[in-house]
Amino acid sequence: MNILRAIPFLLLSIPLFLNPVLGVDPLYHICSTSNNYTSNSLYDKNLQQLMASLSTKVPLMGFGLGSVGRSQDRANGLALCRGDTSSADCKTCINGATSDIRQLCLYNEQAIIWYDHCLLRYSNIKFFGQIDTSNKVYMWNVKSVDDPKSFNHQVAELLTDLSMDASHSPLMFAKGEMELGESKKLYGLTQCTRDLSSSDCKKCLESAISELPSCCDGKEGGRVLGGSCNFRYELYPFVDV
Ligand SMILES: *[C@@H]1O[C@H](CO)[C@@H](O)[C@H](O)[C@H]1NC(C)=O
Repeated sequence: MNILRAIPFLLLSIPLFLNPVLGVDPLYHICSTSNNYTSNSLYDKNLQQLMASLSTKVPLMGFGLGSVGRSQDRANGLALCRGDTSSADCKTCINGATSDIRQLCLYNEQAIIWYDHCLLRYSNIKFFGQIDTSNKVYMWNVKSVDDPKSFNHQVAELLTDLSMDASHSPLMFAKGEMELGESKKLYGLTQCTRDLSSSDCKKCLESAISELPSCCDGKEGGRVLGGSCNFRYELYPFVDV
């Protein structure tokens, strides 16, 4: 079953990239409390080693995954930076994520955390190459449009195009815009974690896009954040480059 978590997060029209990069707050995090580990256990040590290794290797390519340890003590993790994020900003984001997730989800065997510029997920279960259907978060801009019916249509159209682009791109990332008339433009981005196949990336984004009516009906902006893919759209440009 999908666990749908809807949060009334205010995506004000102030672009988030104006915030200082250091010390950026997470968008959201989910700790799984069904299984816990103890301090200084083998899992604890493996997890810390995994976090250190992700901090080192993810900024180079903007994506990385790894496992440390054996059988039930194995820690598996993955991190992804937004496709347009510089290596330096990626590093800052991942470093923040490894420290925040430890504080926020201390002793929980599974957790995920999202930021504007990166996501980080770990688990005692190996999850690579599978679409994550258990972690999902909606965010929306509090402002509504005047013509929800046609606007919803245009949002779905742009994001569907961008999901094709992302699934065929080496970074599994796409951004784009669409003219809406009245000198208005719609901006969007889509991204998948690069452990997915091209067809699973498309499938993951299609499923996220199908949540638009529950997430962002008639809203000027919105996001569906998942463990394997995410999208965002707004009526203002929010991608740095
Ligand atoms: C795990 O720890 C959380 C607190 O982080 C607690 O609420 C939860 O009950 C614990 N779960 C188990 C199975 O002990």
